[in-house]
Amino acid sequence: MAGKPPHLTVVANADELAEAAAQRISAHLTQASGRLAACLTGGSTPERLYKFMATEPYRDALPWQRIHWFWGDERFVPHDDRRSNFGMARRMLLGRIPVPADNIHAIPTSAASVADATLLYEAELRRFYGAEQFNRQRPLFDVVLMGVGADGHTASLFPGRPELDESQRWVVGVPEAGLEPFVPRVTLTLPALASTRAMLFLVSGRSKREVVRRVLSGADLPATRAYSHGELVWLVDRDAAPEHRDVA
Ligand code: 6PG
Repeated sequence: MAGKPPHLTVVANADELAEAAAQRISAHLTQASGRLAACLTGGSTPERLYKFMATEPYRDALPWQRIHWFWGDERFVPHDDRRSNFGMARRMLLGRIPVPADNIHAIPTSAASVADATLLYEAELRRFYGAEQFNRQRPLFDVVLMGVGADGHTASLFPGRPELDESQRWVVGVPEAGLEPFVPRVTLTLPALASTRAMLFLVSGRSKREVVRRVLSGADLPATRAYSHGELVWLVDRDAAPEHRDVA
């Protein structure tokens, strides 16, 4: 299933990308009342954003007691391994703020196998959501962050892999990653990622320009297939943007 064409917002550079992303995330995580849920992405692009969110004005503005943190994908390595997506978010953001431990829902890579981790995380998501099927009026997440690889993968959904077509499961195992680090992965599926009020892609750097161009032209790539029950925004810096785009 292809998503609706993404809305592209271009900013000047990686610092502005982090700032613009922090503002949007903060808007999504302050407007609603009650429990909130954010789904984080891994890779290097969001590091600056996470660090930024641990500082003022975000540190003071976000209702940390009410926000629950999830991950869109994880490398099957211990949480203290440098390659862990959870580990990175903890170093840059969650370990710098007094976030209640019960609000952190890391993908359990201490499970005996990728298959076990997958089942455990799916059960955790279903428990949190409180239903077996998604209701479009009541999304699982308030905001989902995404990245894109130069090959068009997003989360750990790689081009040409069967996990991309999964329509029932919320979480699946990926025995072989299509790009570095070449460790097995656990990833949310497209329908689970789509159950959100807002999906925000963060894209930075010249090495991403070609894939952004391909996504905009509708090429069949995992990132093109990502969709959202709410808003879908691609936040891209000038280096990653196709040349004719103006900066916002
Ligand atoms: C992962 C990611 C992955 C990432 C892209 C972009 O675990 O690797 O979640 O989907 O978002 O590979 O990564 P960069 O920001 O490092 O380019």
